[in-house]
Amino acid sequence: MTYILGIESSCDDTSAAVIKNTRVLSNIIANQVVHSSYGGVVPELASRAHQQNIIPVVDVALKEANIQKNQLSAVAFTRGPGLLGSLLVGTSFTKSFAMALDIPIIEVDHLKAHILAHFLNDDDGVNSPKFPFLCLTVSGGHTQIVKVSSPSDMDIIGSTIDDAAGEAFDKSAKIMGLPYPGGPEIDKLAKIGNPKAFKFPKPRIDELNYSFSGLKTSFLYFLRDRLKEDDDFIEKNKADLAASIQSVIIEILLDKLKKAVAQTGITEVAVAGGVSANSGLRNTLQQTADKEGWRLHLPGIKFTTDNAAMIAIAGYFKYLDKEFSSQDVTPYARSKF
Ligand code: KG4
Ligand code: ZN
Repeated sequence: MTYILGIESSCDDTSAAVIKNTRVLSNIIANQVVHSSYGGVVPELASRAHQQNIIPVVDVALKEANIQKNQLSAVAFTRGPGLLGSLLVGTSFTKSFAMALDIPIIEVDHLKAHILAHFLNDDDGVNSPKFPFLCLTVSGGHTQIVKVSSPSDMDIIGSTIDDAAGEAFDKSAKIMGLPYPGGPEIDKLAKIGNPKAFKFPKPRIDELNYSFSGLKTSFLYFLRDRLKEDDDFIEKNKADLAASIQSVIIEILLDKLKKAVAQTGITEVAVAGGVSANSGLRNTLQQTADKEGWRLHLPGIKFTTDNAAMIAIAGYFKYLDKEFSSQDVTPYARSKF
């Protein structure tokens, strides 16, 4: 039996999880509320909060998993990409904790971990994709279409040239005066709005790549013009604005995903990352899959946003291959994958 402790500290959530092979025994997440009043993550405050949270979070994860430290086989941690100061807290904690227990440490790429979350097994069951599959990874920092041939063999076949899909949600929400993070706020409002109320232009980008910065600018200019005529325009049209911006983001995401399926002939399709919690995206993906004959894999909501169970499962696959890291490993801020 293999027990992996996963540690995630790449952005503003401190998380620790224990898995037994692929089974989740605990997955504890401490969210940092301190950032919401700043309208975004403040790196300095994030590192400090990780420092305060990491030991209690690991302690609860072990207790909830009902295991002793000395039963652990290895510790997997997020090496990157992310905020360096935040990553350093998880990396340093992992090194000293594992050294004291004399067990291996395993570095994990955060984006690969989002994808491998599909192999986690809990009370809600598991519906893992078969290799090879395509994964649309949509988070706050990244938007990619990845061809996944095995847990260790992944190719990015499309990615954003500027903003990520999560940023498109968060920045649009900020323009509307909604709290951070804006994605879930837009999702909530969109449920009661008309997605056809307002039309925003889709970008023309080559191949399987994405772009979201133009959309943000056109949303900003559109609202600036309307606010000149009516100070209460946003307040009066909140739900319709949210539904319309969400609908175009989803259309942009789906257009390239359909193209990727057509180009590769792979109809095994998954979605991962924080934005995959979006109810509109999940519904549209399901409808498209039904129509096009894809086998669709939607992650459980708890495994969409940042969590350490996904780090633990990515570590588990590396553990099986005995791919361990050395004590002089350092975090990386930008994706190496
Ligand atoms: O994967 P994640 O937790 O962190 C990163 O690795 O970036 O993704 C966070 C992103 C944020 O932009 C957040 O607004 C977005 O995921 N998000 C959502 C929803 N829940 C989280 N976007 C749209 N609808 C949601 N329900
Ligand atoms: Zn993430």
